[in-house]
Amino acid sequence: KRCILIGVPVQEGTSRLGCDMGPSAYRAAGLCGALTALGLVVEDRGNIAPPPGEAVAHPNPSVTNLSDFARWTSALSEAAYRAGGEGLPIFLGGDHSLSAGTISGMSRRAAEEGSELHVLWLDAHPDLHTLETTTSGNLHGVPMAYALGLKGFGPYLPPPVAPVKPRNVCTIGLRSVDPAERRTIREAGITVHDMRAIDEFGIGILLKAFLERVAAAGGWLHVSLDVDFLDPGIAPGVGTTVPGGATFREAHLAMEMLHDSGLVRSLDLVELNPFLDERGRTAILMTDLAASLMGRSVLDRPTRSF
Ligand code: ARG
Ligand code: MN
Ligand code: MN
Ligand code: MN
Repeated sequence: KRCILIGVPVQEGTSRLGCDMGPSAYRAAGLCGALTALGLVVEDRGNIAPPPGEAVAHPNPSVTNLSDFARWTSALSEAAYRAGGEGLPIFLGGDHSLSAGTISGMSRRAAEEGSELHVLWLDAHPDLHTLETTTSGNLHGVPMAYALGLKGFGPYLPPPVAPVKPRNVCTIGLRSVDPAERRTIREAGITVHDMRAIDEFGIGILLKAFLERVAAAGGWLHVSLDVDFLDPGIAPGVGTTVPGGATFREAHLAMEMLHDSGLVRSLDLVELNPFLDERGRTAILMTDLAASLMGRSVLDRPTRSF
């Protein structure tokens, strides 16, 4: 199996500097070596950058760095589409705005190969704002809405070539949802499991149900892992900490089940802010989780189809 690392030093989706150091932190934490040790062929393509461009204003005055977002999204969509046909891309963020591009590119690739992209969104936030509904104006709060092809991005961004179907999206770990996002969740019909659902049923049950649906549909699976999915006590290196997140054990179980499913085609590691980290512990934890998703395990378990 061939793993393609793509650094995405975008931080314009947040109002806090530091996410641009994310790709370096993953390399310093040893991600490449950890994957190579699993017997994978790893190709680090370095960091990508969008072409330069002029600032663009939006009628919603809170919207910030719209031109950067549009240029990153088209560059990443192209990069993901290409890499998705060559191996399993891992996007080293960078803030979560990058997923507008990675998901739309992977979705186009999946559609071209006769499949449908499914998305597992592991995050404290649904990131379902549009340019019209965001009140913070931070565009890391919009990528999932863009990937679904929701209205509210035109004419600033072209719609995705293959919008992800709401029924193919599952969000786990939610604990911070804005009013407009609640409405979208209700109306769009995506599957959402908040922290309460994890506490009540266990993350294994919730994830298993989704993986069975992806497998039954013959779907491709993209995983988008936001650092703030994790509890801030174990993952302090992020700008948007929300108390009550996933534990080390819950996160690792999810990664191990994802590996065993054999369904994952691409991965985003997003929102790591090395400036806010403590001696690299968040970068190391995220690297460890990525290694588990790619096959690191405690025992030689026979591969189950979950
Ligand atoms: N919903 C809030 C906003 O729109 C928070 C978004 C946080 N997103 C993230 N990718 N960390 O500002
Ligand atoms: Mn997010
Ligand atoms: Mn988040
Ligand atoms: Mn592990």
